[in-house]
Amino acid sequence: MGTTQDGRTALVTGSTSGIGQAIAMSLAAEGAHVVVTGRVRERGDATVAAIEDAGGRATYVHADLGRSGDAVRALAEEATEALGGRVDVLVNNAGIYPAAPTAEIDDATLDAVWATNVRAPHVLTAAVAPAMAARGSGVVLSLGSWISTVGMPSGAIYAASKAAVEQLTRGWSAEFAGTGVRFNAIAPGITRTAGTAGAAAFLDDAARAFPAGRVGEPHEIAAAAVWLASDAATYVHGTTVVVDGGALGTRTL
Ligand SMILES: NC(=O)c1ccc[n+]([C@@H]2O[C@H](COP(=O)([O-])OP(=O)(O)OC[C@H]3O[C@@H](n4cnc5c(N)ncnc54)[C@H](OP(=O)(O)O)[C@@H]3O)[C@@H](O)[C@H]2O)c1
Repeated sequence: MGTTQDGRTALVTGSTSGIGQAIAMSLAAEGAHVVVTGRVRERGDATVAAIEDAGGRATYVHADLGRSGDAVRALAEEATEALGGRVDVLVNNAGIYPAAPTAEIDDATLDAVWATNVRAPHVLTAAVAPAMAARGSGVVLSLGSWISTVGMPSGAIYAASKAAVEQLTRGWSAEFAGTGVRFNAIAPGITRTAGTAGAAAFLDDAARAFPAGRVGEPHEIAAAAVWLASDAATYVHGTTVVVDGGALGTRTL
């Protein structure tokens, strides 16, 4: 257990699974009271129980971030209340990543990707960042992706949504300059989660060519979030921290 988040509060979206769950558990282990949120209450309750078993503090708040802007604003309100009136750290992590070719993406999927991956972070940040600025401190972290800056043979809309999140981060950082609120993105590489389980064999194989020689684990992404949320990163603003096992920076052919 660390102490970098002692006395602080955190709202981590998509924290019932994968990277978000690891971030929630890590921030709680650093002393934060964490709101765990997602659509599946059983997974939320299990995550809260795991945090409490480890000596941390967490509260589950149900939310479907893809439903509407109002549903996202309701999460901001309920989470703020559950956390005693303030969100010190917001982690925009929830995301969906359909990998179909462009011609096979229907309108409903297109809307769902944009609603969950872009609208929800935008609405949540709009809901909590002004109060952070008024207090003179706060951290907003958003999950981008290593594929936001390269072309891939499938999942173009997903990659575009992650590029949007990384660009929003730069914009927010400029917009809230001088307020004491820090905005940064984290771009994970291929990470072993429930979301990538369906393609695990293919991804394991692909990752052998990376400098790390393997896919990442959620706790390795969470380590970057813990650092960025801490006072060790007070001079880190408006950037994207890539945690991808070296995949982006290398060509092995
Ligand atoms: N895994 C990777 O290789 C990888 C690589 C780069 C970037 N990322 C990014 O990292 C983030 C986490 O990925 P992951 O692999 O950990 O995902 P995951 O295991 O599929 O978990 C996704 C989380 O988001 C929540 N979620 C999804 N849709 C939601 C909605 N409409 N409303 C509320 N919550 C919703 C899920 O909760 P419920 O199911 O309970 O709603 C779950 O907690 C995503 O933004 C993803 O794009 C992942």
